[in-house]
Amino acid sequence: MISWPILMMPLLPAKPPVDNGGGGEQTTSKNALIFGIISLILAVIALILMQVNSNLKKMSDDAEGILRPEPVPFYRNKVYIAMLALLFFVVGGFYVTKGAIGLGRQKGYQPIQPIYYSHKVHAGLNQISCLYCHGSSWDSKHAAIPSVNVCMNCHKAIQTYEKGPKLYHEDGKEVDGTAEIAKLYQYAGFDPNNAAKWDPAKAKPVEWVKIHNLPDHVYFNHSQHVRAGKVQCQSCHGEITAMDEVKQVSELSMGWCVNCHRQTKVNFNYTDSTGNQFYSIYEKFHNDIKKGKMDSVTVADIGGLECQKCHY
Ligand code: HEC
Ligand code: HEC
Ligand code: HEC
Ligand code: HEC
Ligand code: HEC
Repeated sequence: MISWPILMMPLLPAKPPVDNGGGGEQTTSKNALIFGIISLILAVIALILMQVNSNLKKMSDDAEGILRPEPVPFYRNKVYIAMLALLFFVVGGFYVTKGAIGLGRQKGYQPIQPIYYSHKVHAGLNQISCLYCHGSSWDSKHAAIPSVNVCMNCHKAIQTYEKGPKLYHEDGKEVDGTAEIAKLYQYAGFDPNNAAKWDPAKAKPVEWVKIHNLPDHVYFNHSQHVRAGKVQCQSCHGEITAMDEVKQVSELSMGWCVNCHRQTKVNFNYTDSTGNQFYSIYEKFHNDIKKGKMDSVTVADIGGLECQKCHY
């Protein structure tokens, strides 16, 4: 069965999977402008030709002595009114649909977080691995946000911010890193002067604002991409190591997902660990069938007997 999004695919905007400054968008809007101008010129020519045609007809009628009713002014001409209504319908429809598809998209979203936590300082300058804090992106659907206790693994000892560069808010005001670490201690219930007495069980979670949000009807799985597909975090999230505060770089539209899937090749190398071991079985079957070792593939061969395929 072919569902409508697949039929719609040719209509989806062709955008590069990694947005490098919106270069793709610019050419699309330039093309739209050129098409718009050409359509306008053609419409004006058509109107002039229609006018010339009716004048010629009037002149020939006059020459032959045929009487014609008074001409209707253009604003009461039913053909013009119908054409105008059609135009409004098409143009209005286009913008309403476009707006409705874009509802809930939030490219560029960069909310103010309860603690000014810099990815540049942690993942960039101090080179802490993404997986140290977002480890579940390796083996589950969600990348997840680290708990306060993960922060405290280091910040029980690192109580001031002094080594890193000066940090700034969006509006140019300087950030006091040490005061931001103190905010973390508020959540953790940690007293730096009485560190030995800290009880991790009393920590309260930080209310981080979620930045990336897909609608509920889309299934997106991190491990499928990060582990099986070996896609870099940066391909989807941009240069996180250079961002103080995280910003949504990708559009998270269906066209974005689909374009990357169209362009990315699966590496079927199953003899060593560089390729995708998950789908390598298909290439093995292909080769075995070619060599005559087997003549067909059953559902069992592709994993139909694995317990978790039917049981959650
Ligand atoms: C020391 C812990 C830590 C490390 C290391 C870290 N992060 Fe994060 N990350 C966080 C915290 C805390 C948040 C939530 C606050 C925020 O959005 O800035 C977050 C948020 C994010 C978000 C936004 C999530 C959302 O709300 O949609 C992305 C994307 C992200 N991190 C990617 C990365 C990548 C990629 C790396 C490695 C280059 C990385 N992180 C390294 C702690 C970390
Ligand atoms: C692996 C160790 C480590 C972990 C885990 C860690 N930090 Fe840090 N943090 C550091 C280092 C190193 C610095 C920089 C100190 C300096 O430059 O003086 C720092 C600086 C900071 C600063 C001041 C600079 C800034 O980013 O505003 C804040 C606030 C902070 N950390 C919050 C957090 C939070 C919140 C978490 C948990 C999500 C966390 N840290 C987890 C090591 C860590
Ligand atoms: C193929 C694209 C892609 C890759 C690769 C990717 N992410 Fe994501 N990430 C997303 C999308 C899409 C969402 C929004 C998910 C949602 O709303 O359900 C997201 C959400 C997140 C979040 C918010 C919490 C969550 O799980 O929803 C964090 C944190 C995050 N990603 C971190 C990472 C890290 C770290 C890596 C690399 C180890 C990574 N991502 C790799 C696309 C990607
Ligand atoms: C940067 C490229 C990229 C982007 C963007 C991307 N994907 Fe993928 N996706 C991949 C790769 C590579 C694989 C293949 C993983 C593998 O080899 O198993 C994949 C596989 C998948 C699969 C499994 C397909 C199968 O037949 O098993 C699903 C489902 C999926 N992606 C959903 C999404 C969704 C939903 C989005 C958008 C929110 C998205 N992807 C965005 C690269 C991407
Ligand atoms: C092709 C799908 C499929 C696969 C693969 C599968 N099961 Fe089942 N399993 C079922 C169905 C359907 C039932 C329910 C049978 C019923 O209610 O009579 C079931 C029932 C069960 C039960 C309940 C007892 C019973 O016999 O009704 C157990 C235990 C079980 N499965 C274990 C497993 C284990 C362990 C594996 C992997 C070795 C596995 N299943 C693989 C479909 C599957």
